[in-house]
Amino acid sequence: MVPPTIMNLPMLVFLFLGSNDLNGSLPNTTISPSLSTIDLSYNMLSGRFPAWVSTKNLNVNLVWNNFMIDSSNSSILPSGLECLQQDTPCFLGQPEYSSFAVDCGGSRSVKSDDKFIYESDGANLQGASYYVTRPVRWGVSNTGKFYMGEPNRSYIIYTTNQFNKTLDSELFQTARTSPSSLRYYGIGLKNGKYIVALKFAEIFPDGQIWQSMGRRIFDIYIQGERKEQDFDIKKYANEKSNTPVERQYFTDVTNNFMEIHLFWAGKGTCCIPT
Ligand SMILES: *[C@@H]1O[C@H](CO)[C@@H](O)[C@H](O)[C@H]1NC(C)=O
Ligand SMILES: *[C@@H]1O[C@H](CO)[C@@H](O)[C@H](O)[C@H]1NC(C)=O
Ligand SMILES: *[C@@H]1O[C@H](CO)[C@@H](O)[C@H](O)[C@H]1NC(C)=O
Ligand SMILES: *[C@@H]1O[C@H](CO)[C@@H](O)[C@H](O)[C@H]1NC(C)=O
Repeated sequence: MVPPTIMNLPMLVFLFLGSNDLNGSLPNTTISPSLSTIDLSYNMLSGRFPAWVSTKNLNVNLVWNNFMIDSSNSSILPSGLECLQQDTPCFLGQPEYSSFAVDCGGSRSVKSDDKFIYESDGANLQGASYYVTRPVRWGVSNTGKFYMGEPNRSYIIYTTNQFNKTLDSELFQTARTSPSSLRYYGIGLKNGKYIVALKFAEIFPDGQIWQSMGRRIFDIYIQGERKEQDFDIKKYANEKSNTPVERQYFTDVTNNFMEIHLFWAGKGTCCIPT
């Protein structure tokens, strides 16, 4: 259960209760006006949405719970949440796709040298938020808060760098950042065996300047299975920035969706000053 009293603490601004096996329904209570971000994703919550979920300017992430959402309540939160619940009902048994490709943080779709169309991924996700494409094909969910004092700064970063060893520099010029957990979902995929190809490049510059001192180290899970621990892009790129690294993993789709999870497990640099 989510204790109702926690929602009403007078000074509370960020409430992160994701991945906690919480069950029951959301407390039907008034919430503290100071709250800006509520993460309750990856729990086992169910029941009806109380009025507070649609509070203006409140970021609420309820991805991967057990909410039943139909046309009477699908417009209460940003669209597509019904497709990002456990055992997602969308396309179940009626898959449409056998691939999807995303240009993380990209503001327009890019046709790459490998002939795939990498779809744009420009939604302004904040500390607890998600986005699902229309028509539904894939989605992304972010948890974790950067910039405590700057509520609206975008988590997407850009560079104008050119990248070595690729014809697709544009794919690498945008990136989605996340301080904790970033998950991409393929929705409506035919069941079967898949290759997941993840393309990375370090875009902070090389050299002895403060931006290059931070280490970005994270784990990669595909369909809940850890494929990389303490992954550091530069280790696969001769310690060079602006050099693409491609990692490929084999996985199975059994319920018409795929989850790709980039997770900060506490290694590397935590806090680079602005
Ligand atoms: C949405 O409405 C249906 C009834 O139309 C109800 O059964 C369901 O619990 C509601 N879901 C939420 C999350 O409020
Ligand atoms: C919350 O409480 C109000 C007032 O008692 C009631 O009208 C409303 O239906 C309740 N909502 C839920 C989701 O239980
Ligand atoms: C952040 O965005 C909200 C809604 O768009 C706005 O009300 C608020 O003033 C913004 N805050 C800052 C610091 O820009
Ligand atoms: C690309 O490779 C060339 C030749 O090895 C090197 O001089 C240049 O610095 C590299 N550029 C980047 C962005 O790493």
